[in-house]
Amino acid sequence: MATKITSISFERGIPCAEAFPVSQIQQCAAAILAADAATVLQYGKSMGYMPLRETIANWHGASPEEVLVGNGSLQIQEFLSLLLLRPGDTVFVEQPTYDRAITIFRRHGANVVGIPLEPDGLDIEFLIAQLRKVRPKFLYLIPDFQNPSGVTTSLSKREEIVRLAEEHDFWIIEDGPYRALRYRGSDVPLMRTLNPDRVLHLSSFAKVLSPGVRIGYLIASERIVEAVARIATDTYVTPGLLAQGIAYEFCRRGWLEPNVERLKGIYWPRLKATVSALRESLPAADWVEPEGGFFVGITLPPPMNVADLQVRAAEVGLSLSDGRGFFPQGGGERFLRLAFTALSEPEICEGISRLARLVSH
Ligand SMILES: Cc1ncc(COP(=O)(O)O)c(C=O)c1O
Repeated sequence: MATKITSISFERGIPCAEAFPVSQIQQCAAAILAADAATVLQYGKSMGYMPLRETIANWHGASPEEVLVGNGSLQIQEFLSLLLLRPGDTVFVEQPTYDRAITIFRRHGANVVGIPLEPDGLDIEFLIAQLRKVRPKFLYLIPDFQNPSGVTTSLSKREEIVRLAEEHDFWIIEDGPYRALRYRGSDVPLMRTLNPDRVLHLSSFAKVLSPGVRIGYLIASERIVEAVARIATDTYVTPGLLAQGIAYEFCRRGWLEPNVERLKGIYWPRLKATVSALRESLPAADWVEPEGGFFVGITLPPPMNVADLQVRAAEVGLSLSDGRGFFPQGGGERFLRLAFTALSEPEICEGISRLARLVSH
């Protein structure tokens, strides 16, 4: 009798269902509707719900006028691209980087140039060589537990990159949705704190509360925030204030920090399971052990090819992402992003042992 193959997907970087604090969200929804229904059910300013803007501003030592809260951070990236990019402009990104960011920048006519990523951040020599050729409009970076590689940029590289941005006059977009999910080691300063005039900081409630609430935020100068808010108004009139009210209430009750701790308790064992299974079953692969986040990016030994592997993997119930999507200028044929947060430890072990069998045959 054929054994039943349960499908295992390493493809999507999403929270697991048990990550959602459902009953607390219910309580927050009831409370905000009791306290402020006239605001959160109405059209409002596209800068977002003021109490939540104030809360985020406090976390970052910014003023509320420097904070815009919108419908997910990816859409704010789209708005920033609309504001800053013109066809033919150049954008630098880490290579590999978040595939949807590449799509957005290209949609606005940008030439997307990948700067190779090392275990501690960008290859600075390569960056400097590219800067001699062209001035980018901005450099898009995910400095903490990068999507898709898991890499964290070191402090010395953050400082050097910010210095280069000043010298060569380009913006830095710092995207930090995974930052709060640090499982070990200590925080590296945000790039925004190194130079608030150069760095536009993006983050999100997607990974610390829920993607479904669709709350992302931008911290930037008032001028940039106002310009993005005008685009937001012309796009959706008002952001989802009910969700923002719920998130505000969640924070006001002091529930966000314990929720993040709870999430780390779920995800860290999953990261450890991923890394130890890789060590045991795929010693020839190359990866950086992440200190947090949702992903381990691995490079398979030659002559492996992920496109072929994907087909064979599907036959044994394994879904793998195509690494090439993360590489704006070619490459990535041997790169795999393993998203571990939505899988149980037994699923991770089984998934990696299926992968290892495919790689060795
Ligand atoms: C680096 C990065 N930026 C942005 C997003 C999207 O965030 P949001 O759900 O807030 O739009 C993701 C989601 O996977 C991400 O990995």
